[in-house]
Amino acid sequence: MARRSGGAATQDAPSAFVIGAGRVGTGLAKALPGAGVTVLGTWSRTPGHAARARRLTGAPASSGRFPDRISDADLVFLAVPDDAVEAVCRTLVDEGLVGRGQGVIHLSGCLDLHVLDAAGATGAMTGSLHPLQAFADAATAHARFAGALAVVDGPPSLSRRLSALARALSMRPVTLKPVPDGRVLYHAAAVVAAGGLVALMDLALSIAAAAGLSRKDALAGLLTLARGTLDNLERLGRTDAALTGPIVRGDAAVVRRHLQALGRLPGDPRALYRALARRALALAQARPGGIAAGGDRLRRLLGSR
Ligand SMILES: NC(=O)c1ccc[n+]([C@@H]2O[C@H](COP(=O)([O-])OP(=O)(O)OC[C@H]3O[C@@H](n4cnc5c(N)ncnc54)[C@H](OP(=O)(O)O)[C@@H]3O)[C@@H](O)[C@H]2O)c1
Repeated sequence: MARRSGGAATQDAPSAFVIGAGRVGTGLAKALPGAGVTVLGTWSRTPGHAARARRLTGAPASSGRFPDRISDADLVFLAVPDDAVEAVCRTLVDEGLVGRGQGVIHLSGCLDLHVLDAAGATGAMTGSLHPLQAFADAATAHARFAGALAVVDGPPSLSRRLSALARALSMRPVTLKPVPDGRVLYHAAAVVAAGGLVALMDLALSIAAAAGLSRKDALAGLLTLARGTLDNLERLGRTDAALTGPIVRGDAAVVRRHLQALGRLPGDPRALYRALARRALALAQARPGGIAAGGDRLRRLLGSR
């Protein structure tokens, strides 16, 4: 990619600047050198997070005014909250820090490329690279790119470049088909599988606590159970085949007792239990042979909404 200052294609290692040194930004800045990209620096809104990024990545890090060296970067990654991407992009443009020869890339799963239009109007190429992974903290994020899907978007030359970068990070690059609401639905799926899973585990842990299990035993035991279930799903490749428990067995009496006991808990978690069980029942009934018996009783117990 040509640099703005020289205007000619460079043979040097590509360079990047990462704006937003939170979880993903810090992880990316730490991982990029391993993929052959020189990190010119990171920026974070608060000085403490910039200092953390400097310590974790070894690259220059700052807060306050955006540094001039952003304009030297081939790739400028915007690793800020989705709601801030458009405004940060506009500030970069207003300050003359991005332009022709650079790629400006956001990391959001939900946003399309229009949020980067201000950069596009300067002649910069705009794109996105969404790592389908959960990054819970800045210190370990660099190790979580490998193996993840990377959803890449942008004009062909930038998409090729981002796909090559994703492969260099041991990710699997894909592009989304242009279906209505495709990007938003893709992100909704990600949120169900990540935050939704944590919310489910939180529910399971609270029920286990009410059952008198210690937090330590409940966490270890339920994590083993959940990992075993995910292993089954990975091995079998089908959700209906991986389904276990009273719904598959048609054990309506067990489900009735669950609902009675859950109804006595503070916060009454029966609505979520029922919603999940209805989904499991539909899955079980769609299996070859359906469920042995108890389907009608289960349907009555679980209701329609
Ligand atoms: N976390 C994930 O699992 C994950 C996965 C895939 C993609 N993503 C995407 O990655 C991007 C970054 O997410 P993240 O989880 O890394 O966020 P994060 O940990 O909250 O970090 C956000 C960064 O942006 C800065 N920032 C916050 N508000 C800002 C504002 N209004 N203007 C300028 N900078 C601001 C923060 O600065 P200070 O902290 O210094 O205030 C911090 O450096 C998002 O687009 C997100 O959708 C996240």
